[in-house]
Amino acid sequence: NVIIKKLFEDKNLYTEKTISVNGWVRTIRGSKHFGFIELNDGTYFKGVQIVYDDSLSNFQEINKLSIASAITVIGVLILTPDSKQPFEIKSAKIVVEATSNSDYPLQKKRHTLEYLRTIAHLRPRSNTFSAVFRVRSLVAYAVHKFFQERAFIYTHTPIITGSDAEGAGEMFKVTTLDLLHLPKTEDGKINYSKDFFAKDTNLTVSGQLEGEAFALAFKNIYTFGPTFRAENSNTARHAAEFWMIEPEIAFSDLNDDMKLAEDMIKYIIKYVLEHAPEEINFFNSFIDKELLERLNNILNADFSRISYTEAIDILLKSKKEFQYPIKWGADLQTEHERYITEEVYKKPVFVTDYPKEIKAFYMRLNDDKRTVAAMDLLVPGVGEIIGGSQREERYDVLVERIKDLGLDPEDYWWYLELRKYGGVKHAGFGLGFERVIMYLTGMGNIRDVIPFPRTTGSAEF
Ligand code: 4AD
Ligand code: MG
Repeated sequence: NVIIKKLFEDKNLYTEKTISVNGWVRTIRGSKHFGFIELNDGTYFKGVQIVYDDSLSNFQEINKLSIASAITVIGVLILTPDSKQPFEIKSAKIVVEATSNSDYPLQKKRHTLEYLRTIAHLRPRSNTFSAVFRVRSLVAYAVHKFFQERAFIYTHTPIITGSDAEGAGEMFKVTTLDLLHLPKTEDGKINYSKDFFAKDTNLTVSGQLEGEAFALAFKNIYTFGPTFRAENSNTARHAAEFWMIEPEIAFSDLNDDMKLAEDMIKYIIKYVLEHAPEEINFFNSFIDKELLERLNNILNADFSRISYTEAIDILLKSKKEFQYPIKWGADLQTEHERYITEEVYKKPVFVTDYPKEIKAFYMRLNDDKRTVAAMDLLVPGVGEIIGGSQREERYDVLVERIKDLGLDPEDYWWYLELRKYGGVKHAGFGLGFERVIMYLTGMGNIRDVIPFPRTTGSAEF
């Protein structure tokens, strides 16, 4: 049995040979004595054309098959240089493996992305989602390949944690017991010491803190796993459950961090252009007409680097009416990020050195005492895809920052301890996996690049 991808890659190997393929009927055109099936198995952008005729013992049964029926075809691969598809399979035998009801929702006509979201269990069979999820798989592989080639250690950080890595309080609680039946402490709060972990626990918002511990043992590490945020996910680029890639590099500063991020993004783009050209062409034709040009341009350009203060200047000088007014000290909103990267620079831009008040406690305080050694990477079409920083390695400064932001140093005791034992300067970043898939495919909504999205009010599947 051969997968359809292999047929397209190595058609000469199979020409004039009898092979067996299986898959699902994508289209079928039957007539009195013969018919054509486009057979799809999800491994490749296209299906293979199957030709059958009334020499098959079950010709009538085949002729009546509806879309999405599953079959195994045994037949000879024949080159068809004069027609649209490069080859077809002339069937000697077709076995019906499973039939499909005629009310199958994905008939030939085009459906809106919104409608397809309501059938998340079936949408991976459509052209668009089939392409999206093959690219998603490929990008995951490219990420591992990039880091493994550089001897980074892949680190599995916990999903259930007792710490708030971002200090932003946007966590989903984890508890085994019915909260209502947990005893209360004297001040009326739930007494988590009686729960499974004897501690207040949550789903991780980031693997960074544990990643730092490993970077201080393995020098260069990366995580790649699911993260969870109970923030407003009712936007086109926020999900409550998303995947993040978080490298952490010891003996490194913010510049090394940005260099790594730029190398990684270019590596991924190159990998996808080389290994999924059909998919990218499809996105370029049907989803975003500037996609290919944009991706190709990026490979040959250096990403820009500006400070937050410069970004604010640019925004203040622009004549643009923003929904959120801009002033030094305010966080950049998507509209600001997109203006900078899409209208001013027209390529990816690192924005560095944000005010300390709007960034996390672990970012290294700059000499000006007002800003921290942070970097966000903004890209056209999406906005922020990476957030990172050099980490505060000075014990005393870190304790002060934790307190300043209203957090309790005791909650971070082990993280602080890392600063006492060879806590060399180090840096890292987080790449939002879904955001990078949006960027590579031109898909405009995060719900359409994750198989079963979890967003505000939506966990149906
Ligand atoms: O900027 P963030 O919050 O940074 C961190 O979590 C750091 N601990 C990363 C690090 O330095 N190791 O998140 C990093 C990236 C964002 O740039 C964005 O791409 C993505 O994660 N992200 C989300 N993606 C989808 N839905 C959400 N709700 C997201 N929140 C962040
Ligand atoms: Mg961020």
